[in-house]
Amino acid sequence: MEITTTFRELQWGAEIQFPNSRGLSKSPHFVGGRYPCRSVAFVPRIIIDDFSGTAENFSILDPFMGSGTTAIEAVRRANSVHGVEVDPYARLIATVAARKDSQDEIQELESLVLEIGSKVDSQKPDKALLPELKNINYWFGETNFSELLKLKSAIFDATNEGMARDFLLAAFGDIIRACSKAERQSLKPYISKKYVKQPKPVLAEFLRIAPKYVQAVAQSSDHKCDGIIWEGQDATEFGTSKSIDLAITSPPYINAMDYTRCIKLESAWIGTADDAAIRAVRNAQLGESVRRHQVTDDEFISSIAIKHFGDLEAIDEVKFKTALAFFDDMKGNLRSVFNSLKAGGIYYIIIGNSKIRGIDVPTHLAIADIATELGYKWEKYFQYRIKDHRTSIPRGDRGGKIEFEHVLGLVKP
Ligand SMILES: C[S@@+](CC[C@H](N)C(=O)[O-])C[C@H]1O[C@@H](n2cnc3c(N)ncnc32)[C@H](O)[C@@H]1O
Repeated sequence: MEITTTFRELQWGAEIQFPNSRGLSKSPHFVGGRYPCRSVAFVPRIIIDDFSGTAENFSILDPFMGSGTTAIEAVRRANSVHGVEVDPYARLIATVAARKDSQDEIQELESLVLEIGSKVDSQKPDKALLPELKNINYWFGETNFSELLKLKSAIFDATNEGMARDFLLAAFGDIIRACSKAERQSLKPYISKKYVKQPKPVLAEFLRIAPKYVQAVAQSSDHKCDGIIWEGQDATEFGTSKSIDLAITSPPYINAMDYTRCIKLESAWIGTADDAAIRAVRNAQLGESVRRHQVTDDEFISSIAIKHFGDLEAIDEVKFKTALAFFDDMKGNLRSVFNSLKAGGIYYIIIGNSKIRGIDVPTHLAIADIATELGYKWEKYFQYRIKDHRTSIPRGDRGGKIEFEHVLGLVKP
């Protein structure tokens, strides 16, 4: 791919182009493909390719790991890969996608898929495995609901806690939306009264998706390291078990979309979330309006808010405070990463700008100001046009589509 050769010479603010990502569908990036707001894999790829030209042994961190796009790219090159992520479903997907599986383990997964497929019909459903989400039945037809429970029971019967079960649960999570009555197009679960959806039959869908998962993780034998070392769940305050050479992340957008809700059916079925857990994760999500209650009275953050989007306060105080809380949280994140980085280490942040109630919020400039205050040097900056809006956050009439993502390279001197 040509872009890697020009990465180093990129001019300040240059607009970079990416090839389309069709070729990635047979790679580990296939795992958890419906996770909302996934990053474009080429961004961490070019950054890591460039970095590995200057260093042989290095560690990589993504503090907003999501479904693991950075990690999937990082495990091929880095000696260790570290992650922080608040959402348990995301952690499951990322763990599975970035893990190094031996050929024997891949064969075992292949056989397990077939074994489970052959047992589901006669499987006794285990009621203890029912999802604990209010009104969960609303989203599924009766047959699919009981088939899903049988399939999950078969997965639990065939495996112990560990890598094989995680793998099967990740594939199981991926069929939930297709087997539900919820629209596939909408990120948030939603049942259209006008267009009645035909949910996919459970076993056939599992036997279609799971072998693709096997194929996706089968290429992991060339990984340089084993998988993700989880360093915590809160990106605003954490430390790492090892000092870090390179951090790459894509934080959430401000007040953009409640994506904990987008994946609530999957989370409930794989068992990582009940109603209370979903609420807790949501309250911990950066950029969510609930966090405005936690905003500190940091004078510097207030001055950044006034400087970059002061007009918003008079128009919508709640949204102003939501944005303030976001930057307050990002300050915690920038500080935690700073403390984890080696001297000379670099933190790449990929972020789209926001428009809130018609006011432009130049997120990348505000983050750069906070980073500078904390001691970083802003050394690199480029942007790219978002091509695939299906995976990004639709902002409806609340601000139009995010057209560009900005990439900031911040160095710890
Ligand atoms: C833009 S997404 C990252 C997407 C990721 N790069 C991928 O390709 O899947 C932002 C992630 O930050 C996570 N997140 C939000 N608030 C967090 C917090 N306080 N601590 C850790 N992770 C958080 C969200 O759950 C989400 O997965």
